[in-house]
Order: sequence, then structure tokens, then C-alpha cells
Amino acid sequence: ELSDAERAFQARIDAGIRIEAKDWMPDAYRKTLIRQISQHAHSEIVGQLPEGNWVTRAPTLKRKAILLAKIQDEAGHGLYLYSAAETLGVSRDDLLADLHSGKAKYSSIFNYPTLSWADMGAIGWLVDGSAIINQIPLCRCSYGPYSRAMIRVCKEESFHARQGYDIMMTLCRGTAEQKAMAQDALNRYWWPALMMFGPSDAASVNSAQSAQWRIKLFSNDELRQRMVDQTVPQIEYLGLQLPDPAIKWNEERGHYDFGEINWDEFYQVLKGNGPCNRERLRTRVKAYDDGAWFRDALQAHADKQQENKKS
Ligand code: 3HC
Repeated sequence: ELSDAERAFQARIDAGIRIEAKDWMPDAYRKTLIRQISQHAHSEIVGQLPEGNWVTRAPTLKRKAILLAKIQDEAGHGLYLYSAAETLGVSRDDLLADLHSGKAKYSSIFNYPTLSWADMGAIGWLVDGSAIINQIPLCRCSYGPYSRAMIRVCKEESFHARQGYDIMMTLCRGTAEQKAMAQDALNRYWWPALMMFGPSDAASVNSAQSAQWRIKLFSNDELRQRMVDQTVPQIEYLGLQLPDPAIKWNEERGHYDFGEINWDEFYQVLKGNGPCNRERLRTRVKAYDDGAWFRDALQAHADKQQENKKS
């Protein structure tokens, strides 16, 4: 049974009114936003690692500059999203402690290895492509700071996806070995990219409530279907084999049918047993510890400024 305050809150949500940080909100609304926004931020920060692996081995200076710019953008997205989460009354230190302790999730996709340069193409094209499909609706979600952060993020994300597809096009127009690299990267990233959208709607524990609060404007399966429908023609344009033999246009549905996702793999990765989970967390913890001296110096400087102001 909803309280009067919760009923009034839901009426604002239903009227499409943005909720701002200073507005009253049910604790559960605050909690699920902290959960989703902080994990979104963690995804951006950890998401820099797979691509960082190829900066020193980019094939040209131009590709290296583009990859560096993309990785830098992701860092910015992460900091932007931590700031959005802080408006809900949590501290960045606590959020980072949850990530480093393994308590907080980040997108499963970043627990896969980047084995060739073609993976940089597949990641931009498929991972950022999926992220865009997931993030565009979030620009219209009910929580003001989150929706506004998404508008800026989506603008930069489209550059990420385009440069990825450009890498794939270059490889597919190259030698047979280069085209084979692109095919291998597509085969390895296709299913994990579809897993980014979350469990099936039937298995999604948070969807119903998030939909009611207009945090989730489209269901996991709807957005996943959008990704498949958008990407199959792009695969065909590249002249690559479809990574899922069950993909078939369904005239009646007006969508592509496709095969069943390996949910065991999905839940294993979420449990921390993906190919790179331990390495990703170790790298993040080391980076944080190595940066302690810098944070201490900043604090010492701020304290001294404070002292000077008093005297
Ligand atoms: N990886 C890790 N965890 C996942 C996941 C995935 N791909 N998909 C779902 N989960 C988790 C959920 O977080 C939830 O666990 P929790 O309750 O402990 O948080 C559980 O699985 C059940 O899933 P639900 O569908 O019930 O949960 P949500 O309603 O939160 O939906 C979501 C999951 C669609 C990922 C949603 O949280 C969301 O839209 N998040 C914001 C967008 C986001 O995080 N995108 C992925 C980041 S990729 C990125 O942005 C980097 C890009 O710039 C390259």
C-alpha cells in the first residue's frame, strides 16, 4: 500500500516531471538509482582497461590518437556519473570501496579479453553501439542529474561507435588475414554485447519497479532486439558471416529472430568468474593504491589553503 507521499511522488513520475536531488523521493527510488548509476560509472572506469591494452600497439598514429581520445572520454563519463550518484547522498570513496571489494557490479562485457586490434573495432561498434541503445532512453529517465549526464555521454558515444565501425570496415577491405581478424572479433564480442542489456525480462528482478519509476523506459529484451535489428545489416554490409546461425528475418514480427543467449555464461561472469574479472579488479585496486600519494598531496594542499585563509 503506497503512503500519501509515495502516491504523490508516483503522480509526478507519471506526469513526466523530472525528480531533482533536493526533491522528496522514496528510499527505494534513491537506492535503486545509487545502485544503477554507480554501477554505470564503474563500467565506464573499468571499461577503459580492455582498450588500454592496445594503445601502444595501435597500427597508426591516427588510430592511437582516436583510441586515446575514446579512453579519455570514458574516464570523463565515469566521473560524470559518480557526480550524478553523489547527488543522492553517497560518497565517491564508498562507491569505489564497493567496486574494489567486489561488492559492486560493472558491465559484464569488460570481463572479456582484447586479443587483437580488431577487438578495438568490435568494441567501439558493438559495445558502444549497445551502450548507445541503452543510454538514449536514459536521457529521458525520471531522475534529472542522471538524464542530463546521459545527454552529454551519448554525444561522445556516437563518435566511439563510428570509429569502431570504421576500424572494422578498414579490416574488411584489407587482406584476407585482416578480414579474418574482424570476423574473429565479431564472433567473440557478439554474444557478450547482447548480454550487456541484462537478463531476459522474465528473469529481471529490477525491471518492473524501474519501469514504474521511469528509470527504465524500455525493457532489456526490447533494447536487445533493437541492437540485433540495427547490427545485422551492418554485418552484411561488411561482408562478414553472421555470428549466430539462428538469425533470420521474421516478416510477421518485423524483427530478426535470433538464438538463445548462454545465460550460464552471463551469470558466471556476474559472479566474478569471467575470463578477466580478477585481473580487471586487481588493476583498478592497484591504480587506486598507486594514486594514494596524489590524493594525500591534494588534501594537504587544500588543508594548507584552509589554514592560510584563517591566518
Ligand atoms: N553486467 C553486469 N551486471 C548486470 C548486467 C551486465 N551486463 N545486466 C544486468 N546486470 C545486473 C543488474 O545490475 C542487477 O544486479 P543488481 O541488482 O545487483 O544491480 C541484475 O543483474 C539483474 O538485472 P536487472 O535487469 O534486473 O537490473 P537493471 O534493471 O539494473 O538492468 C541494466 C540492468 C540494463 C544494465 C541497467 O542497470 C542499466 O540500464 N544500467 C545503466 C547502463 C549501463 O550500465 N550500461 C552498461 C555500461 S557499458 C558503458 O556504458 C560503457 C560504454 O561507454 C562503452
